[in-house]
Amino acid sequence: MFASPTFLEKAPQGITRIGAGSGGLVGMGGISESTAPLPREKVVAKVRYVNPVWKERGEAPRIGSRESRRAATSFYDVEITDVRNRVASGEANLDKSGFTMDGNVTMVKNFRDNEEVSRVYHEEMKSLICRVTGAQSAYVLNHLVRTETPIDFNDGYARFVHCDYNVRTLDKLAADVLSRHGVEIQKNWKFAFFNTWQPFDNPVENNPLAFIDWQSLPEEDVIDYYYTGRSEEGSLVAAPVYSPSHQFCYFANMSTDEVLIMKQLDSRPDRSVYCPHTSFDYPENVGGPLPRRSIETRLVAVFET
Ligand SMILES: [Fe+2]
Repeated sequence: MFASPTFLEKAPQGITRIGAGSGGLVGMGGISESTAPLPREKVVAKVRYVNPVWKERGEAPRIGSRESRRAATSFYDVEITDVRNRVASGEANLDKSGFTMDGNVTMVKNFRDNEEVSRVYHEEMKSLICRVTGAQSAYVLNHLVRTETPIDFNDGYARFVHCDYNVRTLDKLAADVLSRHGVEIQKNWKFAFFNTWQPFDNPVENNPLAFIDWQSLPEEDVIDYYYTGRSEEGSLVAAPVYSPSHQFCYFANMSTDEVLIMKQLDSRPDRSVYCPHTSFDYPENVGGPLPRRSIETRLVAVFET
């Protein structure tokens, strides 16, 4: 069950594009003017992948700082295609490709206020996930606000292609999250993990998120790695190694009332499992001066079978 993607045809909200030389306007709340050229349907950009040597080794890389990321990854040039038309036509969707888009006019006034985000935005995202996926219920793991001024490695823009979890830890992760919410797992439940990603303050003119279509990603390209940004021990997650067959997608010029939804795990058979993703810098003469500000929310959805 998917929501009708009529929002995909809307023009970006909250922005007035003015002539070159007029100067961009950047502020903390609601930016209304920009000199940005419109982002292109196809761009070639550099993205970092985990080095292929890790696929042959008997150990997984450990990444949790700029230094360890630099040591374990390398840049590749990839073509990234705007996927709005493919989603609108149904050619790409969550089950087949691992991503889709929906709309959300948020009631949140201040995305830097954790209490307000937890009280207001989490409910919006739970409803959105149930509406878009047909899940019976959804529970939030956490949220992360990313801006041009990160506090540490964890809340900086994602800078290499990665998955947020590892399929081998799906059952334990679902049990942990539901137990935290005081929910007892039933035998007929299946789970899928989703990320929602929504810009705030201004449309995305820089550092958009690119993601790989599951239909172009052989599962054997995805290897283990440990994310050590939050603890020395690290958590087992996953990342693909480079292949020219991977199809990179993005939603060009996302507005502040659009939400990207990416599948991160699924225990239901015959569906996409991973949606590896990374931010990227637009090449020269694409994009604009406004910094990207976004909120990412991680949820587990429950499907009664
Ligand atoms: Fe991620």
